Amino acid sequence: MAELVDGLRLSVTTDDGLSMVAEHEGKVVGHVMFTRSLLDAPPRLVDVQVLSPVAVLPERQGRGIGSALIQRGLKVMIERSVPAVFLEGPPDYYARFGFRAGAEQGFRKPSLRIPDAAFQALRLPAHEPWMSGTLVYSETFWRHDAVGLREPDA
Ligand SMILES: CC(C)(COP(=O)(O)OP(=O)(O)OC[C@H]1O[C@@H](n2cnc3c(N)ncnc32)[C@H](O)[C@@H]1OP(=O)(O)O)[C@@H](O)C(=O)NCCC(=O)NCCS
Repeated sequence: MAELVDGLRLSVTTDDGLSMVAEHEGKVVGHVMFTRSLLDAPPRLVDVQVLSPVAVLPERQGRGIGSALIQRGLKVMIERSVPAVFLEGPPDYYARFGFRAGAEQGFRKPSLRIPDAAFQALRLPAHEPWMSGTLVYSETFWRHDAVGLREPDA
């Protein structure tokens, strides 16, 4: 995971992305990243964002830190006119921010190894109806094999 974050961090500085930390008494207790990926829509490719990773120190979880980081990040995405944000994660958690299954919103997941329920999307105000299609993860996710679930014995 640390190597994935390092790889993504490079794209944050060179592309439109976002990396934010939460601090408590001078110590980092939470972190969230948004990085650019592509949506392969019928007329053309669209710049979208992927929310990954998000993490809060175990002893600080359940106090709203993850929610605060995600909500602040989504506000920045709206201000930047990003049309949609994608992620892989538990629907129970991300539904509170408005995320829904991507397949129900006209999006296709980038790998068959991502469970349907885990592939989630949030359309933002800049989204237009033609912006559907397959999410194409940035190369960093593939290079770190950080897409979907692997079956070690398959
Ligand atoms: C997921 C995570 C970032 C949430 O951060 P947090 O600061 O604990 O979250 P908040 O305090 O804002 O929200 C807590 C709520 O999230 C729920 N929640 C936390 N992890 C969850 C999960 N994996 N699935 C479903 N709900 C989850 C809690 O049950 C709690 O629910 P409640 O508000 O109904 O009581 C944090 O738990 C974490 O770092 N987990 C380990 C890393 C991880 O799983 N990252 C996400 C990968 S997609």
